Amino acid sequence: MSEAFSLTVEKVVAGGLGLGHSPDGMVVLVPGVLPGEQVRVRVRQRKKGFLNAELLEVETASPDRVTPLCSLYGRCGGCDFQHASYPAQLRLKQEILTQHLVRGRLAATWSEASAMLGEPMPSPRSLGYRLRLRLHVDQLGRMGFHRLHSHEVVAVGQCPIARAAINRVLATMGSSQSLADLLVYTRELEILLSPAEESCILLLDFSRKPRPADFALVRGVVQELAGVSEVLLRVEGHGLFSGAGLAPQLPEHAMLRLSLPVGLDLAPVALTVEPGGFYQVNQEQNEQLISQLLDWAKVSRKERVLDLFCGVGNFSLPMARLAGQVTGMDLQGSAIRSARRNASLNGLDNVIFSKMEAAAGACSLVTKGERFDLLLLDPPRGGCREVLPRVMALAPGTIIYISCDPATLTRDLGDLQGLGYGIEQIRLFDMFPQTSHLETMVLLKTV
Ligand SMILES: C[S@@+](CC[C@H](N)C(=O)[O-])C[C@H]1O[C@@H](n2cnc3c(N)ncnc32)[C@H](O)[C@@H]1O
Repeated sequence: MSEAFSLTVEKVVAGGLGLGHSPDGMVVLVPGVLPGEQVRVRVRQRKKGFLNAELLEVETASPDRVTPLCSLYGRCGGCDFQHASYPAQLRLKQEILTQHLVRGRLAATWSEASAMLGEPMPSPRSLGYRLRLRLHVDQLGRMGFHRLHSHEVVAVGQCPIARAAINRVLATMGSSQSLADLLVYTRELEILLSPAEESCILLLDFSRKPRPADFALVRGVVQELAGVSEVLLRVEGHGLFSGAGLAPQLPEHAMLRLSLPVGLDLAPVALTVEPGGFYQVNQEQNEQLISQLLDWAKVSRKERVLDLFCGVGNFSLPMARLAGQVTGMDLQGSAIRSARRNASLNGLDNVIFSKMEAAAGACSLVTKGERFDLLLLDPPRGGCREVLPRVMALAPGTIIYISCDPATLTRDLGDLQGLGYGIEQIRLFDMFPQTSHLETMVLLKTV
């Protein structure tokens, strides 16, 4: 039997875990708790220098504690902040970001770090915001999320953080016999909402090359499920298949469509995305991110912008409405195809998109002697350390760094400070309510 004891939660740290001490003074990390709470925990794992524990009982609850509204809370591995009120979630995230700034030596003290941060930007929707949902499929064809710390599939009938149109599909998916037949060969399935049409596309990771009978099933799902406009099968090494067969060029109706109001009296930007490519999960918060970006960037027609992780042009295209010229690069071919299509859809001819790995792209621009007034960095979780040695030659003025991982962000900000950039503004954007994930935007200028 593992050891159980009571402790006081001193703070909540990265990963949304509460930190306290065991009776013999070891650091204990435990999920599902809030600062100030007295809780009873049981040790799950002994690690070097700390213990991982599970929550047995909340003995004294924080006033910020709320009853999680999802029946899967604590079982599905998502939404690890659902036990906190929404204002408390924002406060906790701001504190976690502050801890990162101190630990990354970007600030000498807690109060210096707090003073660096702007007001956190709440999400316009704290529930019902997600535009896409990924489900696992087990060997019996059952769909759901992975149980916490396991690969067992937990069936999901509703997901409170997903948009209503996704939940309508979730609630009826079990009734489609055609889908059940396809799931036998499916490992994962994504429900992707196309917000401009309020309809969903199902993207199935299919384990074999589809046969004619599978295409009939694909067409059957669209007929059987209201709210599903398209089903696509993605087969590793073979690409995407629609009900009509291999789809090297996706038909227009198989694209996701978004319209981004960008403020500043500018016309909205229309975006199309090939299913499977990256797009921001929280549409309204993405709009606030873009509006902050344009406000900090203050670009004019005389200026050039470089966006090294441009995706489908989510930031590059709003920028191109104001800047003289924008260059966007991304590793993913489908993202660049979408970005080019989006540029012409919006009549923007001052933007060039290239399929390039960021470090290689930065190197080649330096070799050509290209210079930019503003550099946008929005890398994946791992950050972009490899790019940083080139940035002073490329953009000696201003950088805006958007990050979904505060640990790699603070590491990269340390490097940028070493290169001569100073942090002017840092602001947390709550892109992922009910979870401990953080999105941060930072404005840097050479000092
Ligand atoms: C966090 S997403 C941001 C995309 C875009 N800025 C947006 O807001 O939708 C990161 C993007 O970086 C791309 N990416 C990942 N690694 C890369 C690399 N080494 N070089 C260039 N692009 C990369 C991904 O394909 C993805 O589109």
